Amino acid sequence: MNLPIRPRRNRQSAAIRDLVRETGLTPGHLIYPLFLQEGHENTPIEAMPGCQRWCVEDLVKEAGEAHALGVPAVVLFPRIPDELKTRGAEECHHDGGLVPRAIRALKAAHPGLTVITDVALDPYNSDGHDGLVADDGRILNDETVEVLCRQAACHARAGADIVAPSDMMDGRVAALRSALDEAGFNQVSIMSYTAKYASAYYGPFRGALDSAPKAGDKKTYQMDPANVREALREAALDEAEGADILMVKPAGPYLDIIARIREATTLPVAAYQVSGEYLMIKAAAASGWLDEEKVMMESLLGIRRAGADMILTYFAKQVARKMA
Ligand code: PBG
Repeated sequence: MNLPIRPRRNRQSAAIRDLVRETGLTPGHLIYPLFLQEGHENTPIEAMPGCQRWCVEDLVKEAGEAHALGVPAVVLFPRIPDELKTRGAEECHHDGGLVPRAIRALKAAHPGLTVITDVALDPYNSDGHDGLVADDGRILNDETVEVLCRQAACHARAGADIVAPSDMMDGRVAALRSALDEAGFNQVSIMSYTAKYASAYYGPFRGALDSAPKAGDKKTYQMDPANVREALREAALDEAEGADILMVKPAGPYLDIIARIREATTLPVAAYQVSGEYLMIKAAAASGWLDEEKVMMESLLGIRRAGADMILTYFAKQVARKMA
């Protein structure tokens, strides 16, 4: 057959496939989310096989191992004891609290590790919402933003490199930027959860932190999974308000959103492969129905190909170990 154009020529050997590969995935693209708790013990998280809630001491070890394998950053999620959860979420800006202590321990042990913190009230709030809840059940926007500013400044004082507001309140990026600048932290970056959807894929995470809302849902602040234009509007706002990095979350079911935001901004784009995405791969692999490592790599490559510069993933250390 005289076929002048044969795309298979570019796939004929491993060496040629290496040369023509369009997308790379290395540990340097990954951010490792870590759960932490008080005390001196670690607790495995049932719905997230392979993940634990770490005590600060072992958190430092786990982060150090990931860092040594080439993972540049971690992001911290605390399990706050019930007795410290209040309607005003005051514990979130306590300098002696769990997160600031963990930041100081991490930076002391691993100065080159980038430490990212989640800025939102849900782990601290007895109502389980990302914002303050009024008596009539509404989530209070501007009052919440004031508390988030105190939380971010507290994390910055402890040594956080990047704060990541995941609350989806209006105007929080601008408010955080000026609060950080006024407190002398103009080098602390803001990675904004720009397009954070009201997703059922967060289920295992909320179980891990006991942070599910006590009443109602998060649909008045997290976005409707049906919407694209709304994500572009949030991206334009976050960029104008001074965000350094824009994030899309979840990742796998929202690849179109990642691609659209990638085209709409010159800022770096992050994507969060969330707990439910992780669990689905782990569960399918545990029953022998999927090849865990291959699907892990393919899921992350797909997120990179869609346009994410960096990916928050519970697989970070596993990927780095595989590539070492
Ligand atoms: C809370 C927060 C959530 C996640 C990250 N930050 C849960 C939520 O919004 O309910 C989810 C991460 C995951 O599922 O892996 N502000």
